[in-house]
Amino acid sequence: MERYGYVINGGTPLKGEVVISGAKNAAVAMIPAALLVDGVCRIENMPHISDTDMLLTIVSELGAKVRFVNRSTVDIDCTHVSFRDTPFDLMRKIRASYYLIGAMLGRFGVSKTTMPGGCNFGERPIDQHIKGMEALGADVSIQHGFVYASARDGKMHGSKVYLDKVSVGATINIILAAVLASGRTIIENAAREPHIVDLANFLNSMGADVRGAGTDTIKIYGVEKLHGGTYAVIPDQIEAGTYMVAAAATGGEVLIKNVIPKHLECISDKLRETGTIVQKYEDAVLVKGASNLHKTNVKTMPYPGFPTDMQPQMAVLLTMASGTSVITEGIYDNRFKYAQELLKMGADIHVEGKVCIISGVKTLTGAPVMACDLRAGAAMVIAGLCAEGETVIEDVHYIERGYEDFVGKLKRLGADISAVWFPDRDDAPARITIAG
Ligand code: UD1
Repeated sequence: MERYGYVINGGTPLKGEVVISGAKNAAVAMIPAALLVDGVCRIENMPHISDTDMLLTIVSELGAKVRFVNRSTVDIDCTHVSFRDTPFDLMRKIRASYYLIGAMLGRFGVSKTTMPGGCNFGERPIDQHIKGMEALGADVSIQHGFVYASARDGKMHGSKVYLDKVSVGATINIILAAVLASGRTIIENAAREPHIVDLANFLNSMGADVRGAGTDTIKIYGVEKLHGGTYAVIPDQIEAGTYMVAAAATGGEVLIKNVIPKHLECISDKLRETGTIVQKYEDAVLVKGASNLHKTNVKTMPYPGFPTDMQPQMAVLLTMASGTSVITEGIYDNRFKYAQELLKMGADIHVEGKVCIISGVKTLTGAPVMACDLRAGAAMVIAGLCAEGETVIEDVHYIERGYEDFVGKLKRLGADISAVWFPDRDDAPARITIAG
């Protein structure tokens, strides 16, 4: 079977400017949210990534008219959607397909979805989503890998939901289910990530009444109907953070444009602790790599803490920092699978449960490695950019779930990276480089 991967020749410091795309985790909530709108949602700054492509296909199957106005602007018209079976094979591939539960319950009073897919970081239950849907008046059951939900009396009703665990997905899903419900919904212990605020702003611009997003108490006053409108997705915090770390790790100098510096503060502060220079501008950050990186410790936490989605990239940087660094994963049970790949590149990295201990080495060396998941894949790209010699990364389809034009953007910063097809597993030297 043909395989697709990236080939990187490391050692070139990244230099120049890169423009950050729209936030994946906001966009993947807005596409299902469009199901709640009677009319045309024009969404600008939509990232071109496989997760958004799949969700746009799923809403099209429900009857939405989807039309790209230009590369990053899409019109979604859900005036004539109806409840029906959706492409379950696509749903299984992405995490954010769980937003269809809240959005379909809100629009149709009934939903049928698969258990969500996405990256495997250990157990990723959806009990808090279900708790929320049940509180708002739905019966929910999981049978044969499907999640069935239906509003007991055909419509959702506002209620109070306390989340036992701070969950981005459950917070967003409950907002989606509550927007057209009767009465008021209160979410306590809500997540505070920037994309939750962005989703609330999107819904409010279409006539919803969502208050308190960005705090741990969100109130949603149900409205009769949402109307069409135009909204621009915020820049992607994690894509920006990935280029920041890549610039720092390669000892380069990169101006990262179209960002909200406030969302990058925890990443900027950590990078400064390693000796990296980070300068903040109104909608850009300039990152200048240090000749000697210092160790630091990282603990991932819900926003405004250090994001778990930046943990693998930061780990790569620390493999080259002098001294011993400790990373503690505060969100997931098993998010260090990439450590085994970094070992192949000469890193001194050791995992004990939710803690990873890294002793800095002088250089990484290129090797054949796998992208274990989306962010771990991005981390392997950074490792390849820093390493001596050639790194070949397989399973990069994970990376393309969340990074728009990763290869192109890195090339324009001077990286020696190509996307290639390997025609046959037993024929490793043969490669077909993809143009662009
Ligand atoms: C979202 C992001 C993902 C990011 C994560 C944490 C999207 C599409 N994905 O994922 O990139 O890594 O936030 O910032 O936005 N949990 C439960 N029960 C639930 C829900 C979650 O126990 O019902 C647990 C999870 O297993 C995890 C923690 O809560 O340990 C946080 O998960 P959550 O914030 O829900 O992550 P996602 O929404 O899946």
